Amino acid sequence: MSQLLILYSTTDGHTIRICERLRAVAAALGTQVTVKPLADGTADDLARADAVVIGASIRYGKHKPEVGAFIARHQAALEAKPNAFFSVNVVARKPGKDVPEANPYLLKFLKGIAWKPQRLAVFAGKIDYPSYGALDRTMIRLIMWMTKGPTDPTAVIEFTDWSRVEAFGRDIAHLAPAA
Ligand SMILES: Cc1cc2nc3c(=O)[nH]c(=O)nc-3n(C[C@H](O)[C@H](O)[C@H](O)COP(=O)(O)O)c2cc1C
Repeated sequence: MSQLLILYSTTDGHTIRICERLRAVAAALGTQVTVKPLADGTADDLARADAVVIGASIRYGKHKPEVGAFIARHQAALEAKPNAFFSVNVVARKPGKDVPEANPYLLKFLKGIAWKPQRLAVFAGKIDYPSYGALDRTMIRLIMWMTKGPTDPTAVIEFTDWSRVEAFGRDIAHLAPAA
């Protein structure tokens, strides 16, 4: 059975939920999947995997610094096997910014790293106003107001199109060569 390693970088946990859905889809297709925090990912994990996927969420315009740092540190190991990257952000809720070729955060991120992931995806994330601190809530409401999104401070909105997540899950399930 081929081994797929999915490493995630998250702040509020939505990227983990996406990874768990990817795991379920790939596992149903006979791929053995390990999901773990990027921060805990080691050179040994990469060496053992037949294929690697990294997923990371955006906060204030950027993925966490750990993402670029991990990729720079392990670039050769990433390039040595089938690989993919996906980004989670709420700009991706917008038609026209919901594909890798047009999502501004993903495009900017890729320009700043040397790794060229073989597969890419972008998924719309979640807004959970009640769980945010006052400053973050105000900032996100402002961004949403400017981009014609929901601003009700009691709202919890999941923008994720799970059928797209599942399609990517099927895609990455076949990344690793069959054992
Ligand atoms: C404080 C904060 C800042 C955010 N900044 C952005 C942003 O600049 N652009 C964007 O598209 N989404 C932004 N988001 C939305 C997140 O990308 C979205 O909530 C995502 O689902 C978070 O994933 P996570 O739970 O895995 O961290 C922000 C969310 C929060 C809470």
